[in-house]
Amino acid sequence: MTKKLWSGRFDKAMAPEVERFTASIGFDRRLYAHDIKGSIAHVRMLSKVGLVSKSELRRIVGGLQKVRAEIEKGVFAPGPEYEDIHMAVETRLKKIVGPVADKLHTARSRNDQVALDTRLFLRDEIGAIVSEIRGLQRSLVKVASKNSALIMPGFTHLQHGQPVLAAHHLLAYVEMLERDIARMEDCLKRVNVLPLGAGAVAGTSLPIDRAYVAKLLGFESVSANSMDAVSDRDYLMEFLAAAAVCGIHLSRMAEEVVLWVSREFSFIEIDLSYCTGSSLMPQKANPDVAELVRGKAGRLLGALVSMLTVMKGLPLSYNRDLQEDKEPLFDAVGTLHASLMIMTGLWERIRFRPVRIRMSVDGDFSQATDLAEFLVMNGCPFREAHHTVGRLVADCIKRGIRIEDLTLKDLRAFSMLFNEKALAILSPEKGIAGKKSYGSTSPLGVSTALRGWKKKLGIKNA
Ligand code: ARG
Repeated sequence: MTKKLWSGRFDKAMAPEVERFTASIGFDRRLYAHDIKGSIAHVRMLSKVGLVSKSELRRIVGGLQKVRAEIEKGVFAPGPEYEDIHMAVETRLKKIVGPVADKLHTARSRNDQVALDTRLFLRDEIGAIVSEIRGLQRSLVKVASKNSALIMPGFTHLQHGQPVLAAHHLLAYVEMLERDIARMEDCLKRVNVLPLGAGAVAGTSLPIDRAYVAKLLGFESVSANSMDAVSDRDYLMEFLAAAAVCGIHLSRMAEEVVLWVSREFSFIEIDLSYCTGSSLMPQKANPDVAELVRGKAGRLLGALVSMLTVMKGLPLSYNRDLQEDKEPLFDAVGTLHASLMIMTGLWERIRFRPVRIRMSVDGDFSQATDLAEFLVMNGCPFREAHHTVGRLVADCIKRGIRIEDLTLKDLRAFSMLFNEKALAILSPEKGIAGKKSYGSTSPLGVSTALRGWKKKLGIKNA
């Protein structure tokens, strides 16, 4: 049995079930590289302020590098007797370099150490997540660009509302993802603060140099209150909230893929390499990839709720409850990476069915709003125009004809404000071309937006 590093006060060994129950090494070993990186910076600082000699520094740093290599290679695979990754690294270090290892934990507690590790971890992960979101934006913009003139129904209540450009629909997701990136990057500002030097709760009487550690580790600032530093996990709550929102966005996108590939919609085809079969029904090619992305958003939400629940009502400062921060964090990070990567791959394997999509707009009355706006432009109050076109639609339904089939005479039976020009907007193409407001689905607006995104995402004339 490994002797606990804190065993001085104890005249008894820990009960094995307590050891198992309290250990976090099973999951926090994932932080080993960050833990060692933090320790190397810490001991450099200890040497700078004279708490560790130059030769001690060299031996400790060499030893830490060895521990890292051993864990990487699987030569050192610590079990529950090591409690957590911090203890494991230090214990192993002592085996390698001897008693000099006892100086490493000077002016440090696992309470500030663990906060440091998750901050270092998250800093890397946020960087990777942001580039994965960019990748997904890129594949959406490419599909949008390929289908830039395609008209599709713009849905509200999952009913045809007004015709829109398919590219406009896809760019809506690109906008959402842009805000996901902004949330991640904003969160990063709060993550990128050095907690080390807070000690267990009160700081230290030893002459440490926190700014130096911050500089070595690339932190933008140093936490201003030792109790806050070891106690709060708002940077995790914030990250998990951003991850959950992004997951919700992905789930909506996934749901549309599931709908669009259904026989009823038949808007898209998914390459068979991204479909799965049925063990019973031979004809099936299912959109399980999209369904799983939709499902995994639940895990992201769950991680956020777990973290919030752990924090609620927790007194200052460090409490062991905080150890429960890591599993939801790791799960969310893994889930988000996987979902982003697979959605990017999925969009690269989706083909729009332009004829079918365009056909679905025919005869769906979705030009009605344009007709009402035509009347408004000719002096009719909007409510009245709305009512007039409503009656016109009801009449079409009764006669079994489409808006596209109406003649000027038909139109003028409802309002004398209709003239030749009204006939033009009966086609969805003309209706879309007539859109004027900024942010609308007008061809000019959408092509400008597409060009902007291509430039931003470095896409060369896809
Ligand atoms: N494994 C612990 C965690 O993840 C590290 C800190 C433990 N500190 C303590 N004083 N028991 O939070």
